[in-house]
Amino acid sequence: MYGIKDYIINGMAYINNAVRPQHKVLSQLMIYATTRCQSRCQHCRIWEKDVEYLSLDDIKHIMSSRCINSRTTVGLEGGEFVLHPQAAEIMEWFMNNHPNYTLLSNCLYYKRVIELVKIYKPRHLYVSLDGDKEVYKRMRGVDGYDSVIKVVEAVKDVVPVSLMFCLSPWNSFKDMEYVIGVAKRYGLDVRIGIYGTMAFFDTQKDLLAVNNEDEYIKDIPENIIETDENYDFVVLYDEWRRGNLKLPCQSIYSELVVHSN
Ligand SMILES: C[S@@+](CC[C@H](N)C(=O)[O-])C[C@H]1O[C@@H](n2cnc3c(N)ncnc32)[C@H](O)[C@@H]1O
Ligand code: SF4
Repeated sequence: MYGIKDYIINGMAYINNAVRPQHKVLSQLMIYATTRCQSRCQHCRIWEKDVEYLSLDDIKHIMSSRCINSRTTVGLEGGEFVLHPQAAEIMEWFMNNHPNYTLLSNCLYYKRVIELVKIYKPRHLYVSLDGDKEVYKRMRGVDGYDSVIKVVEAVKDVVPVSLMFCLSPWNSFKDMEYVIGVAKRYGLDVRIGIYGTMAFFDTQKDLLAVNNEDEYIKDIPENIIETDENYDFVVLYDEWRRGNLKLPCQSIYSELVVHSN
C-alpha cells in the first residue's frame, strides 16, 4: 500500500530524473538475486533455468551506485530469495546498511521465511497467493497454500505483509475475489498483478491467454473496490490489451530491475 509520503518521494525522483539526467536517483530497485526456486509455477518457469546467484559482493557493488540513496526501496526476490546460500548475510547487510528493503517470497520454506523476517526485519513482506488450496496446486504445481497461511499468521504483526495475486491463464477472477477475502480476513494489503510474458521468466503462454473474452469487466470481483489502487489497474489493463489505451512508460525513469545474470 502506498502512502502520501511514497507518492511524494516517487514524484520527486521522477521530476529530478527528468530535469537532471546526469544525477538520476532510483525510487525502486528490484534485485532478482537467484533463479533458484523450489516451486513449479506455470506462469513463471524460472525453475527450469540454470541456477545462478548474485553474491553479497555483487549486491554491495550494485548498492554503491550513485543513483541509489536511502529513499530507494530495494526489493529482494528471484527465484525464491530465501534459497540463496547467502540469504541471511544479504538481509543482515541490508538491515544494517539500507533498512529500506523488502522481501518477496512464495513461503514454501516457511520456517526459513519466518526466521529471516523476524531477525532481519525487512520493511515489507510480499507473499504470493493466487487462489485457494486447489488453485494454488494447479497454478504453482506444488501444495503450498498452508505454508503461505503459516507465514502470514506468524509475521503479520512483525512487519507489514501484502498478498500478491497474479491473474493468469491458470486462475480466474473468482480466485482474485477469494484472495482479496483472505487479505481482508487477516487485515492485509493486496497487490493485484496480471500475467505478462517477461523473457526472464521463460513464460510459455501468450499474453492474450488471460481472460480473452468480452466478459472481462463484468467479471472483476466487487470486493476489489475495497482494496487500494488495484481497480483502476485491472480495468485499464483490459483497455490497453484491446489497444484503446496508450500510456507512455514512466517507471523506466526511476525504477530498475537487476537480474541474476
Ligand atoms: C517472480 S516471483 C519471485 C518471488 C517469489 N518466488 C514468489 O513467487 O512470490 C514475484 C511475483 O511475480 C509474479 N509473477 C511470476 N511470473 C509472472 C508473470 N509471467 N507475469 C506476472 N507476474 C508474474 C509471481 O506470481 C510473484 O507474485
Ligand atoms: S513465481 Fe516465484 S515461486 Fe513461482 S516459479 Fe517464479 S520465482 Fe518461483
